Amino acid sequence: MLNDEKWKVHNSKGVGRVVVTKKLPGVKWLEILARSGYRVDVSTSKDILSIGEIISAIGDNCSGVIGQLTEVWGEALFSALEKAGGKVYSNYAVGYNNVDVGAATRHGICVGNTPGVLTETTAEMAVALTFSAARRVVEADRFTRGGKFNGWLPDIFLGELLYGKTVGVIGAGRIGAAYARMMVEGHKMNLVYYDLYRNSALEDYVAAYADFLKSCGEQPVACRRAENVEEVLRTADLVSLHPVLDETTHHLINAERLKLMKRNSILINASRGPLIDEDALVHHCRNNPDFRAGLDVFENEPELKPGLSELDNVVIVPHLGSATIWTRQSMAILAAGNVAGILMGYPAWKGENILTFLEEAPPKAAPSIVNSKETGIPEYAG
Ligand code: DGY
Repeated sequence: MLNDEKWKVHNSKGVGRVVVTKKLPGVKWLEILARSGYRVDVSTSKDILSIGEIISAIGDNCSGVIGQLTEVWGEALFSALEKAGGKVYSNYAVGYNNVDVGAATRHGICVGNTPGVLTETTAEMAVALTFSAARRVVEADRFTRGGKFNGWLPDIFLGELLYGKTVGVIGAGRIGAAYARMMVEGHKMNLVYYDLYRNSALEDYVAAYADFLKSCGEQPVACRRAENVEEVLRTADLVSLHPVLDETTHHLINAERLKLMKRNSILINASRGPLIDEDALVHHCRNNPDFRAGLDVFENEPELKPGLSELDNVVIVPHLGSATIWTRQSMAILAAGNVAGILMGYPAWKGENILTFLEEAPPKAAPSIVNSKETGIPEYAG
């Protein structure tokens, strides 16, 4: 049973019912669901809903759910959703490491996510953390607000110049490649990246930029795909993490690997917290004051490992990678499109340009269903 004070009902006369476990930005997503004929129940709670609370919201009649990366979508929730007549769940996130896709498939539930609209936004946050760490922005802000600024001095808050140095990227998918381009093009950094797959588009981009610099009589930039993670850690002046989180990347950065990094290197993580052994990072930053880190995500989010918040050489923000108005509104449109698309019997979009779903007349397809093949949803033929 829904506690009415904690839920807001939209389009109350709708035939089916969609549950949304957090209020989402914008209005277009609600229009998409309402136009498809669904009543939409939106949680107004700021707290992360428990599995029990979500099951009770699903009740015995629920066609689809839009949920959050802070919820664990496994057997319990998918079985409740199937029993309530549900057909689709969309994560309000591009990452779906919180979703047991196998369990969803077993219960005949399609799983959606929201790729393509977070790329530049998240890469920009990684850039913001990079410069905050390199130029000690947060420390210096605290100092200035604390009334300690008594005049310019030659040696206060000296940081690291990044221009012309080497940026390391681990995971050169969409977001990693966007971050690499921003650092290479904006700050004329050389690139060393590690990814299981070669990113030829990124390599070609850097090569073309190097040619352009040469044609201007400037020093060209270089790009190299490393043999392994260790090579990136050893050679780069700063390293940003962008792989997906799975069992192979859990604690990708541990005490041993931190020791490989340069004494004054910078480690950035705007991907997923468990990529880093956070206790090891606290220990490393405590013992290496010239080493810096910029973190948007944490191992046991929202908790921080003991000691992390006391370190001046670490910049921390509360998982803001995708937090721009445009991106969060666009994510809501894609999540609603996933749910409405599957409920309307549309095929799954496999086209290149997902941004077409933000336009006035979007394709009649569900924008991003990750288990379409397994659940027997046909692909959009165009
Ligand atoms: C995602 O979508 O995976 C992001 O982490 C949300 O900011």
